[in-house]
This record gives sequence, structure tokens and C-alpha cells, in this order.
Amino acid sequence: MITIDPKTVTTGKLHGMLLGAVGPRPIAFASTIDDQGNANLSPFSFFNVFSANPPILIFSPARRVRDNSTKHTLENALATKEVVINVVNYDIVQQMSLSSTEYPTGVNEFEKAGLGMLASEKVKPFRVAEAPVQFECKVNDVIAMGDEGGAGNLVICEVVLMHVKEEVLDADGKIDQHKIDLVARMGGNWYSRANRGMFEIQKPLTTLGIGVDQLPEEIRLSKIFTGNDLGKLANVEKLPTQEEAVAFLKINSEIKAQITNANEIEIHKFAQQYLEKEDVDTAWNIIVANQ
Ligand SMILES: Cc1cc2nc3c(=O)[nH]c(=O)nc-3n(C[C@H](O)[C@H](O)[C@H](O)COP(=O)(O)O)c2cc1C
Repeated sequence: MITIDPKTVTTGKLHGMLLGAVGPRPIAFASTIDDQGNANLSPFSFFNVFSANPPILIFSPARRVRDNSTKHTLENALATKEVVINVVNYDIVQQMSLSSTEYPTGVNEFEKAGLGMLASEKVKPFRVAEAPVQFECKVNDVIAMGDEGGAGNLVICEVVLMHVKEEVLDADGKIDQHKIDLVARMGGNWYSRANRGMFEIQKPLTTLGIGVDQLPEEIRLSKIFTGNDLGKLANVEKLPTQEEAVAFLKINSEIKAQITNANEIEIHKFAQQYLEKEDVDTAWNIIVANQ
């Protein structure tokens, strides 16, 4: 048994140990708007439901350990007192991860993650169209846990309207736990797909992924690529050039042989096999070489 006195370790180390020990944690995919009306979307796994009457959800955007700065979501929740909390299922997990990229103020993470913006009925922030459940919330209170890096801020949200996709309901109108296919956050890069088990997603690029909005149209509108595929393809700093892709195929003659004379659908299916193996570079080279 090792014993940790929080006062004797760095906040970064303690943070890692806390997150490794407390999980799987549900994910609040929180949509807010700033006082200029700019949309913002980010995930938070310091999250849960705390009351049914009134219906209360709480999530916690923390002060950054590295520089004690605050997150846009917290600033927006304080400024506008409204949040939409969307739940995250497996189908949108890569796009959710991409949306956690620390894009500058005013960048719309719905667009970066390639997720649909659905108007809410009782609050101004948008709902994530793809999320199986969306909670429109008023912020009753924000309680700061401290004023140093790593300090959480409890955003106490009262649900004023809850939307549930019919496709996740069972015959009795209850939420079917297999159909909803929720994912949760664990320590390190680990996630848990509740109805299957653990899987990993590397943290998004700190150098800022290009985002789904910057993908070539034939990729964005591909009938083959899923939202998760797009999330992976968009988490790169830049695309290979045509010359780089051709040079890549020259070295990888087996891949070249498989895609010579292939049509767009075949190319996308072939690239998708590499995305499934988390080999995004090869997927991009295959796509670009054939453009
Ligand atoms: C699955 C997941 C869960 C996260 N949970 C939290 C959390 O509970 N608290 C937090 O401060 N940041 C959390 N983050 C990091 C934020 O999403 C990230 O800092 C984001 O850029 C904040 O965006 P904002 O500045 O637009 O609010 C999480 C990231 C991921 C991918």
C-alpha cells in the first residue's frame, strides 16, 4: 500500500492519481454560449446527477494546473447562467475528444468536431444533435473549490427540459442501457464503453487539430466514414501533401497495389481499416494519394 498525503505531492501527480482511482466517470458534453452569442462545446468528466426533485446535474470545469487560467465553459456559465449538457455515446466519442482541444476564444467546437447544432427550446446554448440525451439547464449556482490551479468549480445545473432520442428507448419507454451505448472517462487515456469494456483515445493535439470543418468535402460527406473516423482524421495538424503521399506509397508497395484503380468508396473503406488500427497517417496518405 502506498500512502499519499495531498500536501506532499504536486497537483499534477495528485490529479492523475485521483482520476485513475475514481472512474469510470460519466461525461457532461457541455454546450454554452458567451455574452456575444458565440457557441462553445467541451467535455467534462467531473460530472454526475445529484437530485431528481429538483433535477440537478453538477459538473466541474477546473482552473488549469499549468497557469491557473479558467475555461471558456466556466466563464460562459457564469456570464449567461445557461448550459446544455449532452450525454456521450460511443458513436460520437472521437468527436467529443476532438472538441476538448483548447481552441482559442470564439472558435466554435461544434464546427471543429463536426457535430450538429440543434436549437434548444428554453435556453440559448445549442444541443448536440447526435447526442442521445440532451438536458437544457439553468445554472442555479457556481461554487468555486479554491482559487489555485487545479481548483474545481461546481456548476450546479437545474434541468428545465430533457430530450431523449426514441431510438434509445425500450418497449416501456425507458432508456435501454444497451441501446444508449454510453461512454465514460477513466485514468490516463482510458475510456470505458459501458456495454463492452475499456478502450483508449490519445489526448487531442495540443498543437490544435485542423478540425472536421477543415476536412476536404469528399471526406466530410463520405458515405463510408463515421463520425468517429472524421474525429480521428481531423485530429492532425496538417494533411500530407500529394508528393508526400505518393512517396509514402512508393515505399509501401503492398498498399499501393491494393488501391491502384480503386474508386472513392473503395479508397475510403481501405483507409478506414487503418483508422480502426489508429494508424491515421497511413489513412491520410491513402486518401491524399488518390485525390
Ligand atoms: C473526456 C474528457 C473529460 C474532461 N473532463 C474535464 C473536467 O471534468 N474538468 C475540466 O476542467 N476539464 C475537463 N476536460 C478538459 C476540457 O474539456 C478542456 O480543457 C477543454 O478545452 C475546455 O474547453 P473550454 O475552455 O472551451 O471550456 C476533459 C476532457 C475530456 C476529453
